[in-house]
Amino acid sequence: MSAEKVLITRRVPPPAVELLREAGFAIDLCDQDDPPGRETLLARVPGAAGLVTMLSERVDGELLKAAGPSLRVVANFAVGYDNIDVAACTAAKVRVTNTPGVLTDATADLAWALILAAARRVVEGDRLVRSGQWTGWAPLQLLGLQLTGATLGLVGAGRIGTAVGLRSMGFGMRVLYSDDQVNRELEQRVGAQRLPLDQLIPAADVLSLHVPLTPQTRHLINAARLARMKATAILINTARGPVIDEAALVEALRQRRIAAAGFDVYEHEPRLTPGLAELPNAVLLPHLGSAATATRQKMSQMVAENVIAVLSGREPPNPVN
Ligand code: DGY
Repeated sequence: MSAEKVLITRRVPPPAVELLREAGFAIDLCDQDDPPGRETLLARVPGAAGLVTMLSERVDGELLKAAGPSLRVVANFAVGYDNIDVAACTAAKVRVTNTPGVLTDATADLAWALILAAARRVVEGDRLVRSGQWTGWAPLQLLGLQLTGATLGLVGAGRIGTAVGLRSMGFGMRVLYSDDQVNRELEQRVGAQRLPLDQLIPAADVLSLHVPLTPQTRHLINAARLARMKATAILINTARGPVIDEAALVEALRQRRIAAAGFDVYEHEPRLTPGLAELPNAVLLPHLGSAATATRQKMSQMVAENVIAVLSGREPPNPVN
């Protein structure tokens, strides 16, 4: 009997390929760093028993149909799985898995990198020094937001939101959060207070987004909510781009209706909304939240363990459906 095929849509760090080979699977690796493209994916997926996807690959009815009845598991190399039509997978009896937990700290660290960079105008400062235009220290130069005593507003307080909130301890910030659930850890450890979103927004000096992308959270931060933010506030997005109406945000930043923003994710990723790249008060990163070597290796191990479990007839460690 020939080995079952597992299609991996991108180069991944070890040990996923090694673990899957040791477990006896035939690996079909899209040996590149860029997305394989829809046509390639549709051409290579037929006959696969397992599919390892990245957040940029859309897994929908068309892809499932192309894969055929052999497909039993889609293991997403990400904690977010908005790229996957989970209901279609369930209907096709395909298990979906993700990589929760292992990227919490890396993503929370990166959110803080953006908070500090946007609040203290780090990238603008770097550009000024490199430009050769810097004439020396000046009392009014690149003044930013002091974090000590400021209010951090967390939109969503799951694993990553909690980790971002706990990291605020060192900065002496007041923490507010908006979430369906009470978060005892944040309340007990940093005295966080839960508020409805529309009360949290005008109170926050730093508004940081930590919700998954769902039909309910698409454009959660829209023109009306941007208008309710403080003019001195900064907005941070390490969650998913479409949570913000980016065209409205570009306008808010351009007109300085909010002070600054820091992004790791984009509404039309990897394309940028027109105007965003020209804004000096936006710090823009290329979706690096989980991009720490140790974290990516743990994600790699998790996807392999999930695929192996399902294809061996066991319950996967990280099921989505
Ligand atoms: C995720 O895991 O959802 C991140 O966005 C990519 O690591």
